[in-house]
Amino acid sequence: MWPFTSSVDFIGMDFRTDVHSHILPGVDDGFRTEALSLQALDLLAQAGVRQVILTPHIYPELYPDNTPENIRHAAEAFNAAAARTGIICRTAGEHMVFPGIEAMFRKDAPGMVLSMPGSHVLIEMSYAYESPGIRDFIFHLNVSGYHPVLAHPERYTFYQDVTEEMETFISMDTALQLNVLSLGGFYGKTAKAKAEHMLEKGLYTYLGTDLHSLRQIDQLKSLRIKKSHVKAVERLLENNDALWNS
Ligand SMILES: [Fe+2]
Repeated sequence: MWPFTSSVDFIGMDFRTDVHSHILPGVDDGFRTEALSLQALDLLAQAGVRQVILTPHIYPELYPDNTPENIRHAAEAFNAAAARTGIICRTAGEHMVFPGIEAMFRKDAPGMVLSMPGSHVLIEMSYAYESPGIRDFIFHLNVSGYHPVLAHPERYTFYQDVTEEMETFISMDTALQLNVLSLGGFYGKTAKAKAEHMLEKGLYTYLGTDLHSLRQIDQLKSLRIKKSHVKAVERLLENNDALWNS
């Protein structure tokens, strides 16, 4: 019971589409077993989610087996089992930007890219330092017909003037994706402050859970959205639906 309605439950808003998750089991640091992943989808379905994009980490140095072929193969088996949860899953990837990554994104081999609908490509960096050459890579994506989506910019500790840095990315046709749990302070005070600031500035386009564990579903259930942020979050939820349909 919340007698003072200065905030609302995130679960209860129109959260139908998650664009960032590590639910595909056994391929990265997310869910370990199919049983746990199906439990996660059941819980998300109860919360109103209908569509999930599976975005396992794509980073050859850490996950050498996560080739597009292997991920699609793993997803095919999982999606068949996931159908009974009522959630539709699509397969993409969260690409760590590393030197040489351009080779994975060739115009003449689109089948080799784990992109989201509408040729959107989810990218990430280390939390500790900016990926060398990230702007060149974004330019490469742009000219190759892809639309970059930068995951959880509020979590990158090396950006001090986050507004200026993010406006640069946005000017390069790069959409920003909020980890919604950042608003609850689950990644620390600094990430929360940056997330709120960027949300208020209208810098984000999408919202994701970046779900790695059942514990984070409990966090989602406890997440409250400030009333002053509700409209901005609703806009991101609508954009998520539009991305799914793009
Ligand atoms: Fe992620």
